[in-house]
Amino acid sequence: MAKPRVYITRPLPQPAMRILEGAVEYRLWDREDEPVPRENLLREVVDVDGVICLITEKMDAEVVDRMRRSAVIAQVAVGYDNIDVAAATRRGIFVTNTPGVLTETTADMGWAILMATARRVVEGDKFTRSGRWKTWELMGFTGQDVHGATLGIIGLGRIGAAIARRARGFAMTILYHNRRRADALEAEVGARYVSLDDLLRQSDFVMVSCALTADTRHLIGERELGLMKPTAVLVNIARGPIVDQRALYRALVDRKIWAAGLDVFEVEPVPMDEALLKLDNAVIPPHLGSASTATRIKMATMAAENCLAGVSGRVPPNVVNPEAAERR
Ligand code: DGY
Repeated sequence: MAKPRVYITRPLPQPAMRILEGAVEYRLWDREDEPVPRENLLREVVDVDGVICLITEKMDAEVVDRMRRSAVIAQVAVGYDNIDVAAATRRGIFVTNTPGVLTETTADMGWAILMATARRVVEGDKFTRSGRWKTWELMGFTGQDVHGATLGIIGLGRIGAAIARRARGFAMTILYHNRRRADALEAEVGARYVSLDDLLRQSDFVMVSCALTADTRHLIGERELGLMKPTAVLVNIARGPIVDQRALYRALVDRKIWAAGLDVFEVEPVPMDEALLKLDNAVIPPHLGSASTATRIKMATMAAENCLAGVSGRVPPNVVNPEAAERR
């Protein structure tokens, strides 16, 4: 019997490839540092039974409608806003993601960015290397205290909850805003539910960790930034378009807020003429939230398992649109 055919949009680590080898025939875009060009993607998906992709691939209706044979799109990430799930469901294609395995790693990174931004670690590092360090200055590079401060978390899903648990170690007051109340977590970490506006007004640190949806696009814009304290720090580890980047730039320049730590951007990679790049009060790693070696291997492995299940006629374990089964 012919093996199922799979297209993989980027090289995966060996443990993930071992799951696929022997079980499927695969083709691969084999460059690590460059996403598959759109025209290749459109061509490659036509005759395969499944696709394994990254957040860099725009799996919109045009791509999905070409996937005439496919049973599954297996994303190597927990977020899947790059995939037109409705289009996939219409075609009976399962969409899968990688929840759980990256929660703690991403929460660690949220904290790394928060601390680096609050205590000006990147700015200080650049200064040391520049040769401009002449003396220990009493008020040089002073930042914001994290311990005992108020942390406002927007989106208390798995990652938001893991961030809240870490905040207890810093004796922080924890506020959150979420679609639903999280009663268990309120009891566990003493988090308090507030409206978005109250969260923005009261927090010293605002952590964005909600999913990008039609409702959360530009959730944080000029008005919302205007509610924040002038000493506040905004951290976004979710998706860039949740924050209006133009408005954020203005708020940082005008010192409406004190600083921002962003792991995600409206356009990725960030174009070199992006105004934010010029600001010292912005810390801007290149979307590294889940980037520990162990976690990235787990994510790839999970995606390979999801894909194998889908192309073998099973409902994949991490399916986000189980209703696709009814269209098959
Ligand atoms: C995700 O999983 O959604 C991240 O943004 C990539 O690690």
